[in-house]
Amino acid sequence: MSAAPHARQAAAPLLVRAAWGEPVERTPLWMMRQAGRLLPEYRALREQWSLLDISRQPDLAVRVTLQPLRRMPVDAAILFADIMTPLDGIGVALDIVEGVGPVIESPVRSEADVRALRPLEPEADVPYVMETLRTLRRQLDPDVALIGFAGAPFTLASYLIEGRPTRTFTRTKTMMYAAPALWHELMERLGTITISYLRAQIAAGADAVQLFDSWVGALAPDDYESYVAPHTTRIFAALRETTHVPLIHFGVGTATLLEAMRANGATVIGLDWRVPLDEGWARVGHDLAVQGNLDPAILFAPRSVISEKAGDVLRRAAGRPGHIFNLGHGILPGTPLDGAIHLVHTVREQSASIHAGSAPSLPLS
Ligand code: CP3
Repeated sequence: MSAAPHARQAAAPLLVRAAWGEPVERTPLWMMRQAGRLLPEYRALREQWSLLDISRQPDLAVRVTLQPLRRMPVDAAILFADIMTPLDGIGVALDIVEGVGPVIESPVRSEADVRALRPLEPEADVPYVMETLRTLRRQLDPDVALIGFAGAPFTLASYLIEGRPTRTFTRTKTMMYAAPALWHELMERLGTITISYLRAQIAAGADAVQLFDSWVGALAPDDYESYVAPHTTRIFAALRETTHVPLIHFGVGTATLLEAMRANGATVIGLDWRVPLDEGWARVGHDLAVQGNLDPAILFAPRSVISEKAGDVLRRAAGRPGHIFNLGHGILPGTPLDGAIHLVHTVREQSASIHAGSAPSLPLS
């Protein structure tokens, strides 16, 4: 079939346009951890299946990814998987333990352990992720973005080395400071896995990808520069060479790292809630987009407070192109669904009036 002479390519999803800093009619919104415990229909599935079981079965993973979209008009769907999925794919024995997080059977401590981490062949090692993405992209409304993701090398390394979640990162930092060559080899191997994993996700239909360096805020800025930034920079540079989708870089507790992070090559920097959005954006630089940054605990508050606090984030963004609304970290266990739904609606309404140039309406309770 020949294309009509003036046929235009369909516009990119709202979130993608905002990520590139294009003017938008309202601020796009999604919530980290929007698929999951928040929804009773997810909790019901989890009685029968583990998290990894769900992510390994495309029909279930597609269903769970779409569950939040059936409840509320968010502007993105995020692949249902875990940051540990590619490591599971190359044969690292691990479990995701409820209420704890990732637990590794044999933590990575020696040179031999590091060298055992082979490259990832996405279509062979995690075919279910690619099938889930292809199916999702076919099913989603064209204006809704499909977000792929990966854990960043520091955050993955911390789970691999510690063997489980940690508050102090003692063993991780010990490898960094005491065995820097081994540390860099581990980071390089994780970086290589991440590059092929994200490239494959983009080829399978992801409209944007987010690199979760959730725990990198544990580092001082100098150490971030020396031990982490070169690896993150390599990942974003490799993705930019072969693909053209927005790259979102997110971490928690990163207020002192934002200048360093902006130099790593992402399109969008995710801000947590500890930095006021306008201050964080000024540090990132207004030539990059930002994502964030409502404290997820605010979803437990009355509707009027949610509206007011969401309005504060929007006022700090000041209608400037390049803002994606999100929480400052994932939805907390026990979050009331009603609060999350209210947030989505109030951000749609308030941001539409800001972008239309009229005064935002007063918060409704
Ligand atoms: O909507 C979504 O965001 C769903 C997809 C998703 C999951 N994990 C499923 C999941 C995503 C994007 C992740 C990323 C992830 N996993 C991160 C980065 C994001 C962040 O929160 O900083 C991290 C650090 C992990 C590792 C991990 N997995 C942790 C710390 C936990 C919590 C453990 C707990 O029970 O409190 C998990 C489990 C996990 N991954 C859940 C979900 C929906 C919890 C619910 C369940 O066990 O079903």
